[in-house]
Amino acid sequence: MAYNLLQGKKGIIFGALDEKSIAWRTALRCHEEGAQLVLSNAPVALRMGEIKKLADAVNAPVIGADVVNMDDLRKLLEESMKHFGGGIDFILHSIGMSLNVRKGKHYTEIDYGFNQKSLDISSMSLHRVLRTAWEMDALNDWGSVVALTYIAAQRVFPDYNEMADAKALLESVARSFGYHYGVRKKVRVNTISQSPTKTTAGSGVKGFDGFISYAEKMSPLGNATGDQCADYCVTMFSDLTRMVTMQNLFHDGGFSFTGVTEAVINQMEK
Ligand SMILES: NC(=O)c1ccc[n+]([C@@H]2O[C@H](COP(=O)([O-])OP(=O)(O)OC[C@H]3O[C@@H](n4cnc5c(N)ncnc54)[C@H](O)[C@@H]3O)[C@@H](O)[C@H]2O)c1
Repeated sequence: MAYNLLQGKKGIIFGALDEKSIAWRTALRCHEEGAQLVLSNAPVALRMGEIKKLADAVNAPVIGADVVNMDDLRKLLEESMKHFGGGIDFILHSIGMSLNVRKGKHYTEIDYGFNQKSLDISSMSLHRVLRTAWEMDALNDWGSVVALTYIAAQRVFPDYNEMADAKALLESVARSFGYHYGVRKKVRVNTISQSPTKTTAGSGVKGFDGFISYAEKMSPLGNATGDQCADYCVTMFSDLTRMVTMQNLFHDGGFSFTGVTEAVINQMEK
């Protein structure tokens, strides 16, 4: 059901790889709510060609940008503003990549060169996007920026590896830049901490299936789906959440504040 929450708003969605991607689900919901969109992803992801289907469905151009390349980001914002005929109201940062996980390196023996790249792509990229928008004055007053994160930033999930550190840094960048952008332009910056969700990035985590069913049992409402995360993003981009900024918002069916559940106790007593 649509509520026209984003009528007249213009946004950039980073990170739609295939139809399971949280960014893909969010682009569909934003379109349904009346937003005009630009889609972006790394050139290597665009070569897979899947995003064309989404672009047709939401009537949006696709502009490639490697999120750690400042020239690409400047070009993306310039072309987006030309396409929209003005400033941008919202941005979804839905990007994550761990080289050490990909290369099968255990947390205790990570390669620091890979680690720097992982932190740049997964965390400092939010700073890069915000800084580019800041320098070009690309975001409208009361704009909203959301980045996706995971609770491994606060609690240990051993197989989440270096991404735990990456998410802690991402959440910190959202707070720190959120302060400055709030003062300057009333732009709000938040992170949404989502339940484990079956996507390409999610499935890269070792033992993901066990992980996802444990979280399901440990959440009074169950795991939040990608579509439900998209709904939450829509509210964060809408004018209904104007005074929310610099927050890490748990969207996890109650997992983050649950000590134990009957379902887990029953499992242990088996
Ligand atoms: N799936 C989960 O369980 C889960 C849970 C909590 C948070 N998240 C976060 O949600 C976000 C989206 O992940 P997803 O689960 O939808 O998986 P996904 O694999 O569909 O999306 C990750 C995206 O990052 C993009 N990307 C990687 N390197 C890039 C670069 N250099 N420049 C631009 N884009 C680049 C990929 O192309 C891809 O589109 C990530 O930040 C992820 O950590 C996922």
